[in-house]
Amino acid sequence: MRVLLGVTGGIAAYKVALVARRLKEDGHSVRVVPTEASLKFVGRATWEALTGEPARSDTFENVPSVEHISLGQRADIVLVAPATADFLASMVSGEARDLLGNALLATHAPVVVAPAMHTEMWRHPATTANVATLLARGVHVIEPASGRLTGSDSGPGRLPEPEDLVAALYAIAQSSQLDVGASNPAEHGWGDLGGCRIVISAGGTREPVDAVRFLGNRSSGHQGFALAEAARERGADVTVVAANVVLPLGEGIARIDVETSAQLADAMGGIAGDADVVIMAAAVADYRPASASTTKIKKDGKALTLELVETEDILASLVTSKRPGQVVVGFAAETGDDAGSVLEYGRAKALQKGADLLVLNAVGETVGFGNVPNSVTILDGAGDVVATGSGSKLAVAHLVLDQAVARLKR
Ligand code: CTP
Repeated sequence: MRVLLGVTGGIAAYKVALVARRLKEDGHSVRVVPTEASLKFVGRATWEALTGEPARSDTFENVPSVEHISLGQRADIVLVAPATADFLASMVSGEARDLLGNALLATHAPVVVAPAMHTEMWRHPATTANVATLLARGVHVIEPASGRLTGSDSGPGRLPEPEDLVAALYAIAQSSQLDVGASNPAEHGWGDLGGCRIVISAGGTREPVDAVRFLGNRSSGHQGFALAEAARERGADVTVVAANVVLPLGEGIARIDVETSAQLADAMGGIAGDADVVIMAAAVADYRPASASTTKIKKDGKALTLELVETEDILASLVTSKRPGQVVVGFAAETGDDAGSVLEYGRAKALQKGADLLVLNAVGETVGFGNVPNSVTILDGAGDVVATGSGSKLAVAHLVLDQAVARLKR
């Protein structure tokens, strides 16, 4: 499992170091997101050493990877331990004041909290009401244990012992149909694309008609760029071939800008050979003007006929030159019509293209183009559906990468 471990500012944070260690020993991937206050009790270095993963607190670190959203999206389960009274209150009001608050708002995974505080605080009506609200929202609450507290006092409010926290977490995970057995780090790690080279085409090509005009399409590059950011965040070495994309790319991602389908074909042909995964997310023109005028074409009152010739099918070329073990992914933006549904067209295209995966995209006014939610069906080379999903382009990107990772022979 990918466990997101939120640590908030209580003395019991020290016990959670043993929880992190135990989860790692059991073969799970753990990302600790400590609040700033918790770092007064246990430092970042402890978390990073125990988990082998970065332990960031601030939403504004690693911004291009949109980590405040992707951490929550990728977690299989979230445990907040210890959860202070203050943090429970911030969860109730949905505050996103740091990375942990953001991740909790972005996750669909089961959320487990282990409150720890003085008995008076635990019994305070505000805390009681907050816990009741969280329970009503489906949050799992591991009741605090009774016993010696920080000072000389004792009573309910103690964080349960690490082994009890882990047992409670596993019981909740199992009841949510999660596999608590040791997981394959290559498939279920936070950085499961470490050492992997990925080449992604994005955007839409433009084929010159004359000195000022071109034939283009509506692809914005958002999905291709989301794939690049997601792959980078998962540890891959990423190169993007961007066809007419005006968006910025995060640090650490190589970018080659191109304009035409011929330039895109050259760029992809030059670098795809070394890649482990090649993703053709760009919308490539199928036809280009047979010749482009070097000056502006003037109108002369008559109809204008453009002769168009087919462009190279870059995806088909990449499939033909694919080396063993390489995973090639195509995209297919389809609309259904009287002759067939989106899925039928997608199946036919999967078989015809021969890519390992074809991401089928139903395009329309509100789904598909631009920075709008996306809805995809992922087919394998035989045209069988292997995954479906919808959501932000980043969520879709992770879904596509999950499927690519599963096919990588490493
Ligand atoms: N593609 C490509 N080269 C082309 C056309 C498309 O590499 N000349 C790639 C796209 O990047 C995408 C996939 O092929 O990954 C499918 O693109 P799409 O436009 O849906 O399909 P086409 O092959 O162009 O077929 P059609 O337009 O007839 O549906």
